[in-house]
Amino acid sequence: MCGIVGYVGGDDALPVLLDGMRKLEYRGYDSAGVALVKDGRVELAKKAGHLSELEGELQHLTLDGSLGIGHTRWATHGAPNDINAHPHLDCGGRLAVVHNGIIENHDGIRDELVAAGHAFRSETDTEVAAHLIESILERDGCSLLEAVRRSISVLQGAFALVVISVDEPDRLIVARQESPVIIGVSEEVGLVASGIPALLPFTRDIVPLENGQIAQITPGGYEVFDLKGAAVEPPVVHVEWDMEAAEKGGYEDFMLKEIFEQPEVVQNTILGRVDPSGRIVLDDVHWSADTLGKINKIVVVACGTSYHAGMASKHAIEHWTRLPVELDLASEFRYRDPVLDEHSLVIGIAQSGETADTLAAVRFAKEMGSPVVAVTNVVGSSITRDADAVLFTHAGPEIGVAATKTFLAQLVALNLLSLYLAQERGSMEPEKIAETIVAMNRLPDQVEEVLSIQGEVHRAAKRYADAKDFIFMGRGVGYAVAMEGALKLKEISYIHAEGYAAGELKHGAIALIEEGVPVVALLTGRALYDKMLANVEEVRARGAQTIVLAHQGDERARLLANELFEIPETKPLLSPILDSVPLQLFAYFVAKERGLSPDKPRNLAKSVTVE
Ligand code: M6R
Repeated sequence: MCGIVGYVGGDDALPVLLDGMRKLEYRGYDSAGVALVKDGRVELAKKAGHLSELEGELQHLTLDGSLGIGHTRWATHGAPNDINAHPHLDCGGRLAVVHNGIIENHDGIRDELVAAGHAFRSETDTEVAAHLIESILERDGCSLLEAVRRSISVLQGAFALVVISVDEPDRLIVARQESPVIIGVSEEVGLVASGIPALLPFTRDIVPLENGQIAQITPGGYEVFDLKGAAVEPPVVHVEWDMEAAEKGGYEDFMLKEIFEQPEVVQNTILGRVDPSGRIVLDDVHWSADTLGKINKIVVVACGTSYHAGMASKHAIEHWTRLPVELDLASEFRYRDPVLDEHSLVIGIAQSGETADTLAAVRFAKEMGSPVVAVTNVVGSSITRDADAVLFTHAGPEIGVAATKTFLAQLVALNLLSLYLAQERGSMEPEKIAETIVAMNRLPDQVEEVLSIQGEVHRAAKRYADAKDFIFMGRGVGYAVAMEGALKLKEISYIHAEGYAAGELKHGAIALIEEGVPVVALLTGRALYDKMLANVEEVRARGAQTIVLAHQGDERARLLANELFEIPETKPLLSPILDSVPLQLFAYFVAKERGLSPDKPRNLAKSVTVE
């Protein structure tokens, strides 16, 4: 998500930081900042907007020093403004912190620190780390390294932290829990960054920190410790990547990198949203249980892939809340004279938060007096200003035009929202909610498992890359996955593909089936399994080649499949989160086999800001 750079050495840190931040800016670009230590003071410059805004600001300042940290931000907690930009300072202004990730228990820590007299300046989760370390230093009188070590046993969630202090002006202290951070090995200087591109001008030897590790980096040296403070010696890795490969994390394309980031994205979207008692807490959705109790229908509006996330969510919302859900393409919504009032809760989904049709739909709903909740990936986007409440997906910036990780994050966020509504309205037993949360917490590992079948998916893509038409079919939530699978393939491979509700096929589209037509079938749904199996038989009988997604060990599916993608089992309403992944990979590999660039498909824009 965010970009982090730290430097300590003989030279001026600022040019090194800015160069590294430029190389990491693709990871986050809503604000940027630097902090340098000089003459017993932390000097700070922070600015909302692209890095160029900060660089403009720096021209009017004289900031120097040989110890510094820099950050390019992708906002998760708090709007993308100057104050929320990193680095963040403690009360005394003696230490500065940059952070990538989400500190899940920031609210509770903040309350305790405020009660103890700490004054906070920003709305970020990160600032708690600065004050917490300050309080430990004051209480224990220990070294900065030790204070950071003690602080991370209090912090929960995902974080890569880099901390500097005027009291120890020759070192960077780094800690990792889930979010990546890498030491650059050098004999002259001390270097750390959240991504390899920032380190390449200095070194190709790196030490990626593992979870729970803390490091102290000095000019020409570093020491790594575990959570108990024992020294460890992680291996040094030599990288051969050029700058472009490094930006893509070694993957050939951003789309592939983003598909492989999904376990972390799923985890980040869940993080901090279930409190220790098991209640779902959505910070920016703050209607009272009374208001939510008066809602009598839900209307979901979105475009493209976001619409498909909405299609899947209709099933979860109706099943868990027993409220009727209407689903609309945002481009159609306001022209059909929809029936809305203050009892209709409207959910507008847009990863970019800028899609013109979705914004217009949301504004229309507001005019009709309906409460609106936006589900978006971009803090500070237009939809966040138009909606009454916001649920952020925590996918980080998506560079590939085809939505992948933002789609998975939307599915997760919409499931959380559905459970939250069920919880607040009392329509689902707490034990059932708890069971579903347990299943959700297993999803990051299960997504990882699905990614491990990339070899099978690639082989299948090679076999069908020359096909003229594809049919995707599913039932229930599988229908939404089929629609999304077809859209991904169309977008980046330019092959004609259609998603169908499998039961509808015999009402027309089955006429398209002839010898060799590939049909992708979703067989992971339990409730309508036999019906889906019959649909697969029907298309096979007419000569279709079947690419089947089924649960691991499903022998009946194996008998009917020309290609079988085996998926781990989860709760049926969560299955789109797993089933979508091989279809993203399939579209990606087909596009590559056809010699196309998946990151920049023809005629498409990442954000469609015109009607
Ligand atoms: O930013 P949004 O989620 O509102 O974007 C909606 C569609 O434009 C978007 O999903 C589009 O379909 C993507 N290219 C899908 O990969």
